[in-house]
Formats: sequence, structure tokens, C-alpha cells
Amino acid sequence: MLAIDMYDVWKTYRNGTQALKGLNLQVEGGEIFSLLGPNGAGKTTTVKIMSCILKPDKGKIKILDKEIPRNCGEILREVGTMPQEFQGFSDLTVRENIEYFASLYDKDINIDELIDMFELRKYEYKKLRELSGGFKRRVGLASAISGQPKILFLDEPTVGLDPKARRSLWEIIKKLRDKGITIFLTTHYLDEAEKLSDTVVVIYDGKVVRRGKPGEIIDEFKKETLEEAYLELMKNLEGESDG
Ligand SMILES: Nc1ncnc2c1ncn2[C@@H]1O[C@H](COP(=O)(O)OP(=O)(O)OP(=O)(O)O)[C@@H](O)[C@H]1O
Ligand SMILES: [Mg+2]
Repeated sequence: MLAIDMYDVWKTYRNGTQALKGLNLQVEGGEIFSLLGPNGAGKTTTVKIMSCILKPDKGKIKILDKEIPRNCGEILREVGTMPQEFQGFSDLTVRENIEYFASLYDKDINIDELIDMFELRKYEYKKLRELSGGFKRRVGLASAISGQPKILFLDEPTVGLDPKARRSLWEIIKKLRDKGITIFLTTHYLDEAEKLSDTVVVIYDGKVVRRGKPGEIIDEFKKETLEEAYLELMKNLEGESDG
């Protein structure tokens, strides 16, 4: 079953910027899906629309077979989101932050399990503003999964994490997928996308330009890594728009 089905989605911001120009995306239930593309391509706009933060101008979107924006109330109970600019509540403690986000869902949630999962025990009673960037991000991740979502949206989840924390997050993401959770992530780390993703989609200027398994895209460009294939694809696209 498709977890996410977006068809011909358009979004123009009030200042006239056309962020999405007929975006089509299909995400299978239970997969790790990575949305790739250069700065300004429309990734965060896509995540915000799918997590009911922004309304599209046009297009058909279904999340878990429910329509956006009409069924956003129901959808929000089934998804967890970590925004690109997660701030949390700086004057609340780590524990209070996670408790707050968990309280938005009508579920029995084990806060201690989340604290241990992200190795936050040492910081449990520290205020968020006292934490380093990477630890704040861990609080954002713990908060995003606190509602036991069916779909998890992670907008650049590993920015600012040290190499060990990054790898431990990869393991957590894979474990969540193995439990049947659909993971939708954006990243600029192509090694991360290659290692983690079942499917990747590359968007460029508000439209999809590639879709496939990492191996398929690597093979198409006869490269060794997804990063090399991606760079070649970008070179071709920039060439087209120059000409
Ligand atoms: N609130 C806003 N008002 C006006 N324009 C915006 C707004 N948010 C984003 N944009 C514009 O929309 C386009 C898509 O932005 P978006 O944030 O979706 O890109 P992105 O792919 O997430 O980029 P990045 O990799 O830098 O995070 C860009 O041209 C951006 O400048
Ligand atoms: Mg973004």
C-alpha cells in the first residue's frame, strides 16, 4: 500500500516564489524514502505540505489513504515530524519537551525509553537552551517519534550530529523501518541516502527529475557512488537550463 501519494502538487509562496511545480511522489508503506535535491529545490516545502503545516495551491495528496488538507486532523495523529529548524521550548527541560510533544498524541508513551534511545539521560533535567546543537536535534527526533507514528518525516535529521551519533541514528531509523514505520527523509549527505534508502527521489526546481533505488541511479550514470551519480545529474540539469 502507498503511504504517501502526491500528484501534480503546486505551491507558490506569497512573495511569488514558485517552490513546487507539479510534484509527483509515491512512497510505499514501510520503506525508507529519501528526497534529495539542491538548496531551494522544494524539499522542505514538500515536507511541510505533507505534515499539514502548509497548504498546497493545487494537487491531490493522500497520506495513509486520507486526503490533505481535508483530513489533516486525523493525519496528524498518525505522523511524526522533525522540522529542519527544530527549536523546541528553550526554557523547558529535555524531559519536559519530550513530554509535551508526546502529550499531543492520545497514546501510552514511555518517555524513559525515548530518553535512553537517544542517549539523553545525562541531559534529562537540563533546559533545552543549555544543550549543544546536536543534542537539541536528538530531542527533536525523540519528540517526533514520541507519538508512535506510522510515518516519520525527518527534514535533514543528521545535520550537526557527530559521526557516532549519525551512525546511531541510522541504526534507529532502520529499526523503526523494520517495525513497519515509513520513513521519509531529506538529506544532503548522499552517502547517508545511499546506505539507508530503499528509494530515492531527486527534485530540482520544484519537479521530480529522478526516482529509483540508489543502485539503479548509480548504474544509470555508470558511477561507483550515489554522490557521483547525483553530481553528474546536476551537471546535466544545469547544462540544460543554461542552454
Ligand atoms: N516562507 C517562504 N516564503 C517565500 N519563499 C520561500 C519560503 N520558504 C521557502 N521559500 C522558497 O521556496 C523555494 C523552496 O524552498 P525549500 O525550503 O522548500 O527548499 P529546500 O529544498 O528545503 O532547500 P534546503 O536544501 O536549502 O533546505 C526556495 O526558492 C525558497 O527560497
Ligand atoms: Mg530544506
